[in-house]
Amino acid sequence: MELYLDTANVAEVERLARIFPLAGVTTNPSIIAASAESVWDVLPRLQKAVGPEAIIFAQTMSRDAKGMVEEARRLSKVVPGLVVKIPVTPEGLAAIKALKKEGIITLGTAVYSAAQGLLAALAGASYVAPYVNRVDAQGGNGIQMVQELQTLLERHVPGSMVLAASFKTPRQALDCLLAGCEAITLPVDVAQQMLMSPAVASAIDKFEQDWQNAFGTLHL
Ligand code: E4P
Repeated sequence: MELYLDTANVAEVERLARIFPLAGVTTNPSIIAASAESVWDVLPRLQKAVGPEAIIFAQTMSRDAKGMVEEARRLSKVVPGLVVKIPVTPEGLAAIKALKKEGIITLGTAVYSAAQGLLAALAGASYVAPYVNRVDAQGGNGIQMVQELQTLLERHVPGSMVLAASFKTPRQALDCLLAGCEAITLPVDVAQQMLMSPAVASAIDKFEQDWQNAFGTLHL
């Protein structure tokens, strides 16, 4: 499976790339805006922070297919192997089809239903990003959507991969992986919650305390 961080904070990516087995970094316009950096500057820095093999994802801003295709061409030149995120709208589908013909790799984003994700894959998107928590927040069932999408792609578009996105808890991410999806992108706080919790910290504190009491040292 592939694990991504969903952030444009270069310092955080550098810090976590040392710890986590990262395949790369995903961004979206809100994430880039929050970083207050130029998209053209920050994308290469994100790749450098993870390593030369890292896959970086960046999204187009235009609403029409022609603009999306032009922006995708520019984005794909900034970082080797960059995957262009295209919102799965009617114009987005047209752009995905055109970019497939040009050999530019795309991810269909802003996916709120399995049917929408299936169309993105059929149009030629290599990745499809269902928004798990945003669907849950609307009163839907994000995990069920991912399960359905995963099954649909396995059966009908095996060349396309679900990259599940929009998580607020590690449980949501695990449920997607249990549903068979092969890639997830996590915000920094959720990635950290997967590894560090108050219970883990307190277990380690207790080991230290017992060792210190018995041997007067904190080393072996
Ligand atoms: C991924 O494609 C999305 O940009 C992202 O994961 C959305 O996450 P959010 O719902 O936490 O903003």
